[in-house]
Amino acid sequence: MKEKSKKKALIFGITGQDGSYLADFLLQKQYDVHGVVRRTSTPPHEQPFNNIAHIRAKITLHNGDLDDETSIRHIMRTVCPDEVYNLAAQSDVHLSFSMPTYTANITGLGVVRILEAIRDTQQEKKKTIRFYQASSSELFGSSPPPQNEKTPFHPRSPYGCAKAFAHYATVNYREAYGIFACCGILFNHESPRRGENFVTRKITKGVARILAGKEKILRLGNLDAKRDWGYAPEYVEAMWLMLQQDKPDDFVIGTGQTHAVKDFLTYAFQHAGIKNWKKYVEIDPANYRPSEVRILVADAKKAQRVLGWKPKKTCANIAKIMLDADCLAIGQGL
Ligand code: GDD
Repeated sequence: MKEKSKKKALIFGITGQDGSYLADFLLQKQYDVHGVVRRTSTPPHEQPFNNIAHIRAKITLHNGDLDDETSIRHIMRTVCPDEVYNLAAQSDVHLSFSMPTYTANITGLGVVRILEAIRDTQQEKKKTIRFYQASSSELFGSSPPPQNEKTPFHPRSPYGCAKAFAHYATVNYREAYGIFACCGILFNHESPRRGENFVTRKITKGVARILAGKEKILRLGNLDAKRDWGYAPEYVEAMWLMLQQDKPDDFVIGTGQTHAVKDFLTYAFQHAGIKNWKKYVEIDPANYRPSEVRILVADAKKAQRVLGWKPKKTCANIAKIMLDADCLAIGQGL
């Protein structure tokens, strides 16, 4: 009997936290995994790609950019995947205030470039390509919590506005052209692979450096902002589950629990054996945003009902995992 051929997945943003966990997950499911990487002035063979270093030999990387329609079309046609995951973006909310047009181009328009490439490749190759778009809880902005699929969007940053455009574009391509496209409206999700510009990782790395005597102070912004923090490796399974359904749809993914930035600080410092974190933290107004999202709390009942997806790790668990990883890395001189 002929062996069933492997499913092919194409991941935009494969070097990031989510892309790398998704690649791990899909390799375990025996997928043929392809990823898109951006050109930088460091040659590809010298780039560390830390998050995917452990699977580098098992995946195929392609040079491309969400800004470059030609490369996206070319990669789409060459790989001709069964599933496409767009986890690439200018994803730093604070930075989006200083780079609003770049953010709109990459985070917003980039998605239309992928959708157009999918449309053309589907037609040319007579194949269905399923698409996952990483929408964000930043879409909800100042809409009161808890937030679910029916909550109106009120983004509070150029990043949130670009994600709103990308979200509506994905829904529109589903309705206009019948593309199997899903948006996962993911609330904040963290892990040791989180970028150091995001507050949880900035905190755990900072605490690890304080413990190691390499730093005395951690400079932060608004400690009262509240987020629904989940564990990233659990969230990539939800992305995959969305693409395995009979019909495409959009889902909110989160824990339903919210914590202030200062709660996360408390968990991290407590795990380090330090009771009074106030001695080690300074407020730097440079970390404040021109407009802030005050509170996010997911109502992910639909994902639980339809996808059978449920979060497992708590915010305190996550702070501990991240701090342990940062302490270990510092011990190894990283
Ligand atoms: N980054 C950062 N740095 N945030 C700080 C700091 C600081 O020094 N001090 C306080 N904060 C507050 C921010 O003002 C914000 O309210 C909260 O910590 C979380 O900030 P981030 O970790 O940067 O994440 P985010 O919530 O803005 O956005 C993240 O989650 C979204 C999902 O809701 C990003 O990953 C987005 O790309 C993602 O879509």
